[in-house]
Amino acid sequence: MDGGMAGDRIEALIAEMTLAEKLGQLSMLAASLVVTGPVLPGDPVDLMRKGRVGGILNTWGHDEIREAQRVAVEETRLKIPLYFAVDVLHGHRTIHPIPLAEACAFDRDLWLRTARESADEATRDGIQMTFAPMLDVCRDPRWGRISECAGEDAYVNCEYARAKVRGFQFDAKDPQRRMFGVAKHFVAYGAVTAGRDYAEVDVSRRALHEVYLPPFKAAVEEGVAGIMPSFTDVAGIAMTAHRGLLRDLLRIKWGFKGIVISDYNAIGELIPHGVAHDMAEAATLALKAGIDIDMMSGAYEDGLPVALERGLVTMDEIDTAVRRVLHMKEAMGLFENPLRGLEKISPGPDTIPEHRVSARDAARRSLVLVKNEGDLLPVSKNGSNIAAIGPLADKPGEMMGPWCMAGEEKEAIGFLQGLREGFPDCTVQHARGCPTDDAIDPGELALAIETARESDVVFLCLGEDRQHCGEAASRTLPRPPACQMELARAIIATGKPVVLVIATSRPWILPDWMVDGARSVVIAMFGGTEAGRAFADVVGGEWNPSARLCISWPYRVGQIPVHYGMRNTGRPHDPNNGFSTNFLDAPIGPRWVFGDGLSYTNFELGELRIDKTIAGASDIVHVEMAVTNAGGRAGEATIFLFAHDPVALVTRPMLELKDFAKLLIEPGETRTAAFALPVSRLAYPGFDMEPRLDDGRINILAGTSARRENLKSVSLEVQQRMTA
Ligand code: NOJ
Repeated sequence: MDGGMAGDRIEALIAEMTLAEKLGQLSMLAASLVVTGPVLPGDPVDLMRKGRVGGILNTWGHDEIREAQRVAVEETRLKIPLYFAVDVLHGHRTIHPIPLAEACAFDRDLWLRTARESADEATRDGIQMTFAPMLDVCRDPRWGRISECAGEDAYVNCEYARAKVRGFQFDAKDPQRRMFGVAKHFVAYGAVTAGRDYAEVDVSRRALHEVYLPPFKAAVEEGVAGIMPSFTDVAGIAMTAHRGLLRDLLRIKWGFKGIVISDYNAIGELIPHGVAHDMAEAATLALKAGIDIDMMSGAYEDGLPVALERGLVTMDEIDTAVRRVLHMKEAMGLFENPLRGLEKISPGPDTIPEHRVSARDAARRSLVLVKNEGDLLPVSKNGSNIAAIGPLADKPGEMMGPWCMAGEEKEAIGFLQGLREGFPDCTVQHARGCPTDDAIDPGELALAIETARESDVVFLCLGEDRQHCGEAASRTLPRPPACQMELARAIIATGKPVVLVIATSRPWILPDWMVDGARSVVIAMFGGTEAGRAFADVVGGEWNPSARLCISWPYRVGQIPVHYGMRNTGRPHDPNNGFSTNFLDAPIGPRWVFGDGLSYTNFELGELRIDKTIAGASDIVHVEMAVTNAGGRAGEATIFLFAHDPVALVTRPMLELKDFAKLLIEPGETRTAAFALPVSRLAYPGFDMEPRLDDGRINILAGTSARRENLKSVSLEVQQRMTA
């Protein structure tokens, strides 16, 4: 991003600053609105006036930003502008599908576009920084924050990271519409024990290097402006104090030049973590690990002066962090124009109508159809009686999901409204049936049953409320609450064709009877502002469903973690062998596998072709597969390219995703999924965690999901001496 203020001007400022002013630049304050942790004492405006605040989080809007910035540039001694940051995770005013849903689109262009549109809206509201993308690979539906990531696979999270960083930071033509991204939460937050938020993380070095670190590396390579360490520890070392990962790996090895921002109150939380006696020690640990900005703990403010006195830190170390903050402000263009990008806009996402159109498109591309017995969907638009039943049927606000700060509930479209608009010639009746998670009222249940009986098709909309998703929303049983189970039993018992619609932020453990009893199952998750219209587009057939699951849906809680990239083991699963890896009471795999998802047409796959069977380390192998649309309507196929290394130095996953492609194919047409696969992508971390490629055979596989039985495969012989 372009700056303007010369480095020597920054040095001159640093030379002039008091210690208090320096620490002010290192402190980020939550001024209002959204607070997810303890609040600091003192009047925020007074603190700003004294130069004790460098930036503000979770405030936006013309008047608020203008006034705060006025105080900074007119009333403080050094007139250094503030920066403003918000968690723009999946939309600002116009809310897009939650990341876990949008990832199911497997569409890099879409990921980029929605990030650019978010940046466009947020910068108009005075924001220069977002705490996004969230890149915590997660395989545990118990964790509420699974909603914020791009699912179970490292490669998908890498591609998602690249697209989001480009979309937020670089894609807008107008520099004022560019927003700094902060990739979070570095690292392995998605592996919290038992999915319990903030709990300890104890993953292997291999898991770190194969699964959890790569998305951050991708973000850094793409030029992400900031990194936020996670609240947690990793194998006993608190991430907020992790010199090995934050300094040696991120800054030195990866060459990251940007800003590192603590999570909310995380520096102060080094005390309860049990690695610091007091704020001075906590601040020392964080500063020495390379954390520049203290979000809301006051540890830098209170602890660093004491640490200086005790000789724990030097002024040079403080200046290094201050310098990074000032360079960031310069790169944001704030010294040139403190009100950069700010516009007076009326509330509501209607301000930018094309963003709503785009949000509807994003939502329908994110909706996964996993069952469609007898082609119940799409539903005819000619005069049928439709029932929208269930606690999530008419809950427009919930459709926005977690982290939708500037999104307005009244602007959101729920399933019921979507169906009413999308099926104008049908009768669309509604009955809630039960609350989301509370006692069921017999009268309400009876009404729902009656409504179902009067209809030709029932959309049974189950799910969770958005405050039960996201941060601090872990569950031991991620499944429909008792009242929703009772409602589902009763509705299925009517014998009417049921479309089960799941609006959750995470995979749910569904009972077999519920899945068997529904003719169709739509995994809607939370589709954002336009969720309801997008839903009607899919179930009415305007849009041929094209999304595929980026996360496995387990059969049982006890299977967690279950994902497609398991290793073979020394006793590979064999249903006929009791002494193979198995469960006595559940299948080994999930109910719905990574890549599962149906369309209203059928795709037939040709053989997998490869342009060379022997390749060297720096070669690119071209892999192709013909895909024919054998059905009656145009549709998008998703083709996944996997690799499997059958013999290596360490045990390898049975499948590893290496690429994916999306193809729009007309009925009867054949198109080619073409992949250019660099052989270097087949490397894996060796004993020393450095990329390692062995000579020998690697299986290359492709198909429409990670179900092995449907994959086509070829083998490739790697011979490194070929390029030596
Ligand atoms: C805590 C969350 O962990 C983090 O993701 C978020 O960016 C901050 N709060 C600020 O809201």
